[in-house]
Amino acid sequence: MPGRIPQDFINDLIDRSDIVEIISSRIQLKKAGREYKACCPFHGEKTASFTVSPEKGFYHCFGCGAHGTVIGFLMEHDRLEFIEAVEELASLNGVDVPREAGNAPSSPTSPLYDLIEQATSVYRERLRENPAAIGYLKSRGLDGDTTARFQIGYAPAGWDFLLKRFGSNDESRDRLLKTGLVLRNEEGRVYDRFRDRIIFPIRDSRGRTVGFGGRVMDQTEPKYLNSPETPVFHKGRELYGLFEARRANRKLDRLIVVEGYMDVVALARHGITNAVATLGTATTPDHLQRLFRAGNEIIFCFDGDRAGREAAWRALQVTLPELREGRQVRFLFLADGQDPDSMVNEVGPEAFAKLVEQSDPLSEYLLEHLKAETDLGSMDGQARLAELARPLVNRIPEGVYRELLLERLATEVGLSAERLTRLLSDAGAAKPRSAEPVVRSSQRVTHGRPGPVRQAVTLVLHQPSTASLVRVPEGFDELDKPGLQLLRDLLAAAEDTPDIKPARLAESLADHPDGGGHLTKLLTLELPLDEESDWEAQLQDTLDGIVRDDLERRFAELADKANHGLTDAEKAEFRELQEQIAGPRSQAG
Ligand code: GTP
Ligand code: MN
Repeated sequence: MPGRIPQDFINDLIDRSDIVEIISSRIQLKKAGREYKACCPFHGEKTASFTVSPEKGFYHCFGCGAHGTVIGFLMEHDRLEFIEAVEELASLNGVDVPREAGNAPSSPTSPLYDLIEQATSVYRERLRENPAAIGYLKSRGLDGDTTARFQIGYAPAGWDFLLKRFGSNDESRDRLLKTGLVLRNEEGRVYDRFRDRIIFPIRDSRGRTVGFGGRVMDQTEPKYLNSPETPVFHKGRELYGLFEARRANRKLDRLIVVEGYMDVVALARHGITNAVATLGTATTPDHLQRLFRAGNEIIFCFDGDRAGREAAWRALQVTLPELREGRQVRFLFLADGQDPDSMVNEVGPEAFAKLVEQSDPLSEYLLEHLKAETDLGSMDGQARLAELARPLVNRIPEGVYRELLLERLATEVGLSAERLTRLLSDAGAAKPRSAEPVVRSSQRVTHGRPGPVRQAVTLVLHQPSTASLVRVPEGFDELDKPGLQLLRDLLAAAEDTPDIKPARLAESLADHPDGGGHLTKLLTLELPLDEESDWEAQLQDTLDGIVRDDLERRFAELADKANHGLTDAEKAEFRELQEQIAGPRSQAG
């Protein structure tokens, strides 16, 4: 059992690695000042928003938000697990990876791994000696090969099977308690957790068993027991079957996510060796990251019942921040009462594979789900669909994937993609009240992109000379929203002195009551645009967008209110807005 890799070694390794060299051996980098740029390898794009800073030892994509150290890059790009990335980096540097001694006290968890491993093998032995348990597995269609591959075992009846074997003194009993394999009741009595159950060992990415799932062989409740959270076992992180799937497939492009242990094992038995299961918990962001590190395509397979549909919708929400060009996510819903285990046993692997082929792309499922909640025939139905879609779309990183989804969505609601984007943009998000939970502003900052006001402020600040080149759109001076007065004053100051240095400009407005104090901080950010950009057009678009956003926000507000009845004045305003928003462009399109 290898020990832990010392953290100092990892830090040194990052310091001494040439991040530019390592990244440029994988994608083409172009020097730009002190940094390097490229088209981002993690999402599809035509302009280079991926930057590498050798000074900071860091990469960052302004398009999709991917960022990290050289180890993070190797994990994402080469799809490595953390340890594998460290090993790869060490070998590129020509050094060996040191390990802390296996039983040294520096790693308090290693005795737990050993103990769980030993338990796995005695459970295996017990299975071989127990005809009833073997019979049960057979009755569920399993063969010896699959049982061995997943190291399935059997925990005998009785209260002290493990306890007697591995808990002879206080110290070893404490260790056993730490693994969760035995527990102590209120009277202080200690006993085995798993009794008379089929045992499914759960292995981590390195193949170490970290916990167990145990199933009864009859109708007793609870049907399944799982190891509790321990220092080595975290349910929200592990995926049952991932280690086995990676081992069975040299190249693992696609993963099927199912709900149960038996589903994973039954599919494997039929040669479908790329299924994994969450451990009776909802899909977590950790799961998603591990899944996408293993493959580019994920198919969530859920029961067709209500619980399955609810789980699917939650899985979709967790998936959105991970979506990028090149990644695919699909959903397969089985008929009510079926699960992958029963299904594959009933129809066979070929037919099951066909179902997987025909599963719904995420965008399809998302739209169907939203459409089911709105009446698209009506005006406010469209606004409502846009409203429901907003928090979801905003969770998707900017990039091609988001664009495509927006286009689909726009077609559904009968708006141009551009207009819908504005309607959905963060700055317009000041919806008064709505039946849907509103995304909190803090969430919006992390998941969405900066709103247009802040974009414009950043632009003027970095490129003061553009201020005198743009036309202030009609209605701009009358608008009232956060930061807008600062933007107006910034524009005026920059127009007065077009060649002012950004730092001086920031300084001159540092006391501005509308957030002037933030200007110097914005200055330290890099401009999320590449050098060839047309600043002037960019600023003009942003300013126009701010005004248009406001119109559309008001429009959506009125549309939303329309089913409760509008006053005559509001009706007139609504019609006027409709014309302004439609404008000459919609006639042409
Ligand atoms: P079989 O009935 O053996 O086919 O199991 P299944 O995998 O089809 O189980 P089911 O669809 O009922 O549940 C899916 C998963 O939820 C299981 O694999 C477990 O991880 C978890 N689960 C189900 N029942 C229980 C339970 O009673 N307790 C706990 N802790 N988890 C459960
Ligand atoms: Mn089942």
